[in-house]
Amino acid sequence: MTTGARGVCEPKRPNNQRVSCEAANNNATPPSPAIAPGAELIDVRQAAAEIGARGIDPRIARLVPGFDAPFFQAGLAGYSDAAMRIVARRHGCPFCVTEALLDRTLLAGGRGFDKADLGDLHDNIPGGPEDHPLAGQIMGSEPAEMAAAAIKMIEQKARTDKQYRLLAYRGALAPGVNPPDTEGISEQLRAMREHVRLPGGQQVGFWPPEKDLRDAGLAAALAAEQPESPASPAQASFEVIDVNLACPVKKIERKARGGHWLAEPLGAIKILEAVREAVPANIPCAVKMRRSFDDTPEMAANFERIFDAAMRMGYAWATVHARTVKQKYMGPSRWEALRDLVRRHPNAIVFGSGDVWEVSDIFRMIAYTGVHAVSVARGCIGNPWIFRQAREMMAGRPPAPPTIAEQRAALTEHFRLSLAVTHRFRHGEETTSKMMRKFGIKFAQHHPRRDDIKRRMIGVSSAADWWSVVDEFYPAG
Ligand SMILES: Cc1cc2nc3c(=O)[nH]c(=O)nc-3n(C[C@H](O)[C@H](O)[C@H](O)COP(=O)(O)O)c2cc1C
Repeated sequence: MTTGARGVCEPKRPNNQRVSCEAANNNATPPSPAIAPGAELIDVRQAAAEIGARGIDPRIARLVPGFDAPFFQAGLAGYSDAAMRIVARRHGCPFCVTEALLDRTLLAGGRGFDKADLGDLHDNIPGGPEDHPLAGQIMGSEPAEMAAAAIKMIEQKARTDKQYRLLAYRGALAPGVNPPDTEGISEQLRAMREHVRLPGGQQVGFWPPEKDLRDAGLAAALAAEQPESPASPAQASFEVIDVNLACPVKKIERKARGGHWLAEPLGAIKILEAVREAVPANIPCAVKMRRSFDDTPEMAANFERIFDAAMRMGYAWATVHARTVKQKYMGPSRWEALRDLVRRHPNAIVFGSGDVWEVSDIFRMIAYTGVHAVSVARGCIGNPWIFRQAREMMAGRPPAPPTIAEQRAALTEHFRLSLAVTHRFRHGEETTSKMMRKFGIKFAQHHPRRDDIKRRMIGVSSAADWWSVVDEFYPAG
């Protein structure tokens, strides 16, 4: 018997979001309940309270300080930029993932990769001290490019773009490029550093970079002078590097990337090795996978092989989207597959993804499958309250729907933050305003006049248009 996981919850909501991870297709799909026979019997409120009392697996909290609750905001190409992440965090989200960034886009400097450019690097630089902890997600076809892109992400452009490309294509820094000077850095700080290596073990630098060490040295000196003020440690750019082996985006020049690697396990393993070797050991690497490429036994075996290899290499966790790559974003995800995976690998950390549409799905998925945390994807677009509601449920309280005042605040914050992300670009206001239409339409789902708001949001082209919709439908106080 196949039973929906949604149980007694709200009816399905239509979803018309463009899936930018597969730019050529509009993978609009109505929310479907996951395949999870028996999940309807779970008492979700009780499960949430128990999960709240238990807390997150201590291994996760140790790996990523601040990741203190068993849910997070997924990577969502075209959506999960710094603005969306900060709004989520302000509503209780403990951890976020950037959208998938192509290694070549990163190496090219973040622009100019036209059709294949899945995400804008500028949107994915961490959005200040509030935008942590954060996983930077990369996707690509060549191990050396992936390794160099990972180094570039964690160093946040400490070298020139050309130097990163040389790392990828020549495997070394350009002759004559000297490392920055090391003046003023204590032996103790220098000893804490790790080698940054390319696939094959070639050392190409250190982590943290010299600049961070100097900042840390300065912070330590300041703290010594003013013992009351806490020393600010050198801030890592990304707390985690996440390798995408899940996106169903088409191959280019017959080269695998994203989820297509699940059909080519040897290549997938090379990518995982290259990235893990390049990234300093103190920065966790994680992998995003689909439950399989398709439903054949051969592909199920490939998944297992890649998953095993990742765990052996020291990948911190795998986030598994319980649809196949062939399914793209359509049809139900199969939570049974997550449950079986967790049972087969009792010591591995597994995060679950797929068909998390509302807050109760988070706890139903954990209770049903045993995953250690839940990736909230389409369920949090225009719905940051899902994170606040999750914390309410973990505290044993019923999840409160967002008031109109809360909705006004979220629409205001999200728009302002988006303007901040694009402020340096020409036409930043127009770009932001048009981009925010899709969020406005999703935010409207929570409003009694959702259809009127949607009609107005479709025409938003300027900040004035946005504020006029906000003032009309979400009046202040
Ligand atoms: C528009 C869109 C963009 C996505 N982009 C990414 C991405 O960049 N990285 C990633 O790991 N997953 C991406 N995903 C997959 C989601 O993170 C998630 O695994 C998937 O949507 C299943 O969860 P859901 O059914 O609850 O939405 C994307 C999904 C959608 C719908």
